[in-house]
Amino acid sequence: MVKRSGLPLAMNVMRHLRVPNRLVEEALGHLRSNDWVSSGMRILPSEDNEYRLIPLDVGAPIELPSPLDDFEAIELEGAAEERVDSDWWAHLARMVGEDEVEKHREAWPSSHEFIGDMMVVRIDDEVAEHTSAIAEAKLRSHPHIRLALRDNGVQGEFRIRELSPIGARMGDEVLVGGIPTELCETQVLVRESGRSILCDPTRAYFSTKLQTERLETLELAKQLRQMLGRPLRICDPFCGVGPALATLLGEPGLSSDVLAADLNPHAVEMLLDNLRRWDNRPYPIEPLPLSRLHEDRMVGYADATTLSKEAAIEGKWDLLIVNLPHRTIEMMPSLIPLLDRASPSMVRGRAIVAESEIESANLAIRESLPSLLEESPEPSLRVKRDYSATLRLCSFEAWIAPTVS
Ligand SMILES: C[S@@+](CC[C@H](N)C(=O)[O-])C[C@H]1O[C@@H](n2cnc3c(N)ncnc32)[C@H](O)[C@@H]1O
Repeated sequence: MVKRSGLPLAMNVMRHLRVPNRLVEEALGHLRSNDWVSSGMRILPSEDNEYRLIPLDVGAPIELPSPLDDFEAIELEGAAEERVDSDWWAHLARMVGEDEVEKHREAWPSSHEFIGDMMVVRIDDEVAEHTSAIAEAKLRSHPHIRLALRDNGVQGEFRIRELSPIGARMGDEVLVGGIPTELCETQVLVRESGRSILCDPTRAYFSTKLQTERLETLELAKQLRQMLGRPLRICDPFCGVGPALATLLGEPGLSSDVLAADLNPHAVEMLLDNLRRWDNRPYPIEPLPLSRLHEDRMVGYADATTLSKEAAIEGKWDLLIVNLPHRTIEMMPSLIPLLDRASPSMVRGRAIVAESEIESANLAIRESLPSLLEESPEPSLRVKRDYSATLRLCSFEAWIAPTVS
């Protein structure tokens, strides 16, 4: 058997339920009957060994019902189940040979992203000639996966992923060549925080890896609501198919008005489908330019940089979500006028920055913002994960002071 010690396991930050050892069986029973345990991830011991940390499926609701609400949900790096992981290496070794596995060591794609019943895999050029074997090994070690796609990166203004099908399941068979088109459907419903989100990563940006980010945004929004003493007017001008809103709209009494826009009409088409289900109200089928569709919903495609030119939109929002991480800092001046400066407000943003430039990016963000609320922390980029060898995906929040009249 090949020694795997040098090969990284798939890891990502996810919610875990912290349950005292004596109550684990009971908690697991409730979680499993609802499909809320993350499959393929391990239950971990706490540091003091008094608790078990049960990995939660992304589809589990944010507020778990009784009796699970007695336990704290914490975020930490999940660990892949060794059996699933070793199955993948065993299938791979059977197909390409142990020597070949050992020769390329870290180049093999040990991690992947699940989007519904699809798996997205980045394949290093060094092992690209083994793409079919990789697809087959992945599909055989993850029997719930229907379609494996190679990730060729995020492209263009719409940040759409270029994905190519590399393997599919047809009944009991695994296909890695000549995959019929009908097996290559990429539009799927993803469960997150108790809601289903329609997405198609080949037509609009979507990442399942941002759930913890979205939960943080929810916590910040709740703090802002408490400070203002009223529901928020939320502006998400780069909303994609709406995953941040899925979480925010799930919180009762959090919002009084929502602007959800994106430049990509395909994203808006899926957003409308999502809002129809989340709000249980009618929404148009076809994407349309940004318009007021309900008393408390402005939805449609629009260029975020021009929104503040519209009197009905300028200066109307308490929480501004800026999720175009390659261009956040340069876009800030055209977005800040969207905030209602009569009361405290917040900008919640993400940025992709070189590790070595985080401090200068912090300065640039602070310079691009109006005065901060007294005693609020200075906005600082927090690294969320690696974007590439040198770039980091970071997030920040800024509490903005009202203008003195
Ligand atoms: C990184 S994605 C984030 C999408 C979504 N917020 C999410 O978390 O899944 C950035 C989004 O901004 C949209 N976009 C790019 N330029 C834009 C612009 N000038 N105005 C509005 N949306 C834009 C893209 O189409 C894309 O959906």
